[in-house]
Amino acid sequence: MGAGDVIGAGSLSGFHARSIADREGFWGELAALIDWQAPFERVLDYSRPPFTRWFVGGRTNLCHNAVDRHLAARRDQPALIYVSTETDDERVYSFGELHREVMRMAAIMRELGVRRGDRVLIYMPMIPEATFAMLACARIGAIHSVVFGGFASHSLASRIDDASPVLVVSADAGSRAGKVVPYKPLLDAAIDLARNRPANVLMVDRGLVPFERVAARDRDYAQLRERHLDAEVPVEWLESNEISYTLYTSGTTGVPKGVQRDVGGYAVALAASMKYIFCGNAGETYFSTSDIGWVVGHSYIVYGPLIAGMGTIMYEGTPLRPDAGILWKLVEKYRVTVMFSAPTAIRVLKKQDPSWLTRYDLSSLRTLFLAGEPLDEPTARWIGEALGKPIVDNYWQTETGWPILTVAHGVEKTPTRLGSPGMPMYGYDVRLLHEQTGEEVGTNEKGVVAIMPPLPPGCMQTVWGDDERFVKTYFSTIPGRLAYSTFDWGIRDEDGYYFILGRTDDVINVAGHRLGTREIEESLSSHPAVAECAVVGVADALKGQVAMAFVVLKDPSRAAADDARMALEGELMATVDKQLGAVARPSRVHFVTLLPKTRSGKVLRRSIQAICEARDPGDLTTIEDPGALEQLRRAVGLQA
Ligand code: PRX
Repeated sequence: MGAGDVIGAGSLSGFHARSIADREGFWGELAALIDWQAPFERVLDYSRPPFTRWFVGGRTNLCHNAVDRHLAARRDQPALIYVSTETDDERVYSFGELHREVMRMAAIMRELGVRRGDRVLIYMPMIPEATFAMLACARIGAIHSVVFGGFASHSLASRIDDASPVLVVSADAGSRAGKVVPYKPLLDAAIDLARNRPANVLMVDRGLVPFERVAARDRDYAQLRERHLDAEVPVEWLESNEISYTLYTSGTTGVPKGVQRDVGGYAVALAASMKYIFCGNAGETYFSTSDIGWVVGHSYIVYGPLIAGMGTIMYEGTPLRPDAGILWKLVEKYRVTVMFSAPTAIRVLKKQDPSWLTRYDLSSLRTLFLAGEPLDEPTARWIGEALGKPIVDNYWQTETGWPILTVAHGVEKTPTRLGSPGMPMYGYDVRLLHEQTGEEVGTNEKGVVAIMPPLPPGCMQTVWGDDERFVKTYFSTIPGRLAYSTFDWGIRDEDGYYFILGRTDDVINVAGHRLGTREIEESLSSHPAVAECAVVGVADALKGQVAMAFVVLKDPSRAAADDARMALEGELMATVDKQLGAVARPSRVHFVTLLPKTRSGKVLRRSIQAICEARDPGDLTTIEDPGALEQLRRAVGLQA
């Protein structure tokens, strides 16, 4: 038996059953998929539920496993393939070159005072330096926190305050669909707003837009790099449970949570997923169209493919520029074997000339993986037929770091089923639980998707700085039992395939981007004209969902005239753009004079959503004033 060949492979059900019945044996064997500087003493420590520690006492390093480990066998093979159709740049870094650049970045960070355990916030577009920065942090044991470049100053400020980074790494600008998006003014505004200000800001100057430098704080990457061209920075060997990174994600409250991840468990989980789920081999090319600001970018642009010894494409651009063939052109050019995207990107392509899909040689491509939002049947069927390749839906979360439900063709060639992401992956003890009783629901009955702890390696350790919030948010919502709630509804059919039916909380999913409606509401409420508001996610054919806002003005007469109403709608959208980023901008802002509420004052968001989607708003016996619903119907253009 080779390293990582686990007894039971060959049948997914057997593989899965063993992963739950014998967690220590199972993961103890899979741990051989990565390098350890010192072996672990215990595979699993679950003495303080629901906190889980994997590979206790083992010493390893993510950067070593992603880069250094491959130098002997593949120093000159592609590691990071950077393509920007925004700036017409294309650069290939071999493992040897990536190693060099990461050591240079690590030396710069050390010079700027970054020590093991310190936080480094990375607010960057999709450029190679962002990957260098992530890997450099991993190398020296600093904790990175990447903030999606589409977020604006308020979002950024709250993350800076929570992480209290000693260093921020950023760039002058990003570019989207040919339009330069300056980052520096947003960063400066965020640091002004923040209480915990970083001592240094490391600026990568792409030459896209001039920017102001703050003396004694802003440092120039190119200059510092020159000083460290020959830097040799050895990896810091970290105990498996030290922190590798935090990544902020939205939930029910307006305050984003820092999802905190370990080192050893994450590395093993990713290595195993590359082998059993993504079936990617060393020396091949992986292409994920995500962004490093999201969890898919962390796991499957940066760490997963590199740990597996694959070249990984980092793509700055959209699926449509310079034309709708660009993704497939890259597949042909770099002989991509494994591709990962989001249903929205495919729905965008579906509107284009289908011949784009057949113009390039896609013979290298084995599978297209899609995740982040529900994959509707027509889209799955269309792309599967057009490419003539297997399409594999996979369901997971920022919190879990790797797929919860999918098929694992590295274990067994289980058939996929349209509309279903698949079955529970090894390590995940998935149950569907009744929201009120906590009992398991039956076949074809709707329940909350829950995972019985201990969570497998790779999943979040806790909420950064707030163990209590971790337990309260994720493990205290199912009555009568300690279970991790995904906050998704699901059902399971008679053959064991799961179907995801949407969130149980106020999280919405716009084009695969996870957003909290409460954050958007808080942003709108900061406008002086707004008395109160409600934001809901409404089904959209292209983006999956869009945010729709209902606003009660302090002075309703301000929205009486059409011109004034439109101007105010624009102002409110601009407020969200400025504070949170255009990604969170509501698609419409409707003005009403009251919101539907229960008699105890709770806004009936699910009823609002139902009305927007022309569905039955459900049981409304507790509503305070039914007139609110009529207003809503009128506002969205439905008859009362
Ligand atoms: O509601 C589920 C939806 O996206 C949420 C997690 O989003 P995020 O933390 O950004 O992580 C994305 C990792 C791929 C889930 O709670 N979701 C994710 N994948 C799917 C999905 N819904 C349906 N089908 C999926 N494949």
